[in-house]
Amino acid sequence: MTANKKLLVLPGDGIGPEVMREVRRVIDWMDRRRQVSFDLEEDLVGGAAIDARGTPITEATLAKAKAADAVLFGAVGGPRWDTLGFDKRPELAILSLRKDLGLFANLRPATVLDPLVDASTLKPEVVRGLDIMIVRESTGGIYFGQPRGVETLPDGTKKGVNTEVYTTPEIERVARVGFELARRRGNRLCSVEKANVMESGLLWRQTVSALGAAEFPDVQLSHMYADNCAMQLVRNPRQFDVIVTTNLFGDLLSDLASMLTGSLGMLPSATLGGLSEDGRRNALYEPIHGSAPDIAGRGIANPLAQVLSFAMLLRYSFAMEEDAALIERACTKVLAGGFRTADIMQPGMAKVSTQVMGEQLLRELDKLAA
Ligand code: IPM
Ligand code: MG
Repeated sequence: MTANKKLLVLPGDGIGPEVMREVRRVIDWMDRRRQVSFDLEEDLVGGAAIDARGTPITEATLAKAKAADAVLFGAVGGPRWDTLGFDKRPELAILSLRKDLGLFANLRPATVLDPLVDASTLKPEVVRGLDIMIVRESTGGIYFGQPRGVETLPDGTKKGVNTEVYTTPEIERVARVGFELARRRGNRLCSVEKANVMESGLLWRQTVSALGAAEFPDVQLSHMYADNCAMQLVRNPRQFDVIVTTNLFGDLLSDLASMLTGSLGMLPSATLGGLSEDGRRNALYEPIHGSAPDIAGRGIANPLAQVLSFAMLLRYSFAMEEDAALIERACTKVLAGGFRTADIMQPGMAKVSTQVMGEQLLRELDKLAA
């Protein structure tokens, strides 16, 4: 029995709590069937925390996140809180977690599972077998750069400012994650910026090149402007293996890449910090989809992205490759069995609720583990 794997579960808002419920059932299943137990704690973030405590995330919650081995995050935000200032909004919960825990590498896979190849808006022959990993820098760039703000000019008009800032160490540490992942996959890394118009983009390109030559000469490195990358992702997405890019470009390109797979409701992500001296690494796992307030509370959300985020957690935080792969296989089996939530519904398939999707997943896990 391997106990004391400390998890902090933060379901958040909208569909977050609904999809997290299905993960809790997978966790219970692992406890029963695989004799793996987790030391779980749950807390409020986002709008839920604003309503209960007046702030999207408390210091106490941040401290718990730091002390945990891994954080499993749902989603935050919703129209109820949309009029709040940037210093009070639900989104601040995830931004503070990334920043405070030093989670600088956001891993966003875009994989097309065979049963869902027709769910993509692109032709099956373009996306079949797609397996891309986008590594998005997540504690720097224009999301956090100073100066920022809105000021009123002498003539009464206003000026809004945000700043793209990257230092060499910030670029190197995230690029290193990209190179290392490439080595474990197809050995190709594409670094993406706008070196043609941005100084910080040029520094990014030069830094990644130098690092590649010095430490990863065996990895095939290419560079691409972000606009071209967006076009190439739609034209021929399978040309990519691992992409490493800035916070803002990664935000855009990962949404684009996710849709190549046909459903935002299918994709997990991991956000990792650096390795500390004692071998620990802060890490947070969350689905790519948001809180989807339009369908929240109706029991129709797709729980698979949250479940697959938990699988990533097992793989990256606990090196439990076998269990991670088991959960991933079970998800594919449920889809191959014709079960679909509304977001990935296709003709001839069985449309099921969040809860039924979760139940089918447990059935497949039972079968696979039998
Ligand atoms: C994401 C989201 C967030 C981001 C928001 C909710 C702050 O879009 O994780 O991609 O922009 O990083
Ligand atoms: Mg986004």
